Amino acid sequence: MAQIQFNDEDPVEIPDGAAIKDFCEENGVPFGCEEGVCGTCIIEVEEGMENLSEFTQEEEDFLGDMDQERLACQCKIKGGCVKVRY
Ligand code: FES
Repeated sequence: MAQIQFNDEDPVEIPDGAAIKDFCEENGVPFGCEEGVCGTCIIEVEEGMENLSEFTQEEEDFLGDMDQERLACQCKIKGGCVKVRY
């Protein structure tokens, strides 16, 4: 099991390899298109960026220079722990 932590709250368990979208939605991250186009679901990754899947083409197109931000509708967690803010 991997873990994802939102805004310093208690970490939530999430299966390795799972898309993070549903877990983000349950924890208050807003979603719009769910296809990587609108940017509503932007999250800031404070720790554990290496534990998320590679950037999708949609993320590259929307986010431009890839820094600490991801689109939550596009990410899967590989394992370990990821800490995000939104
Ligand atoms: S919900 Fe639109 S980019 Fe993620």
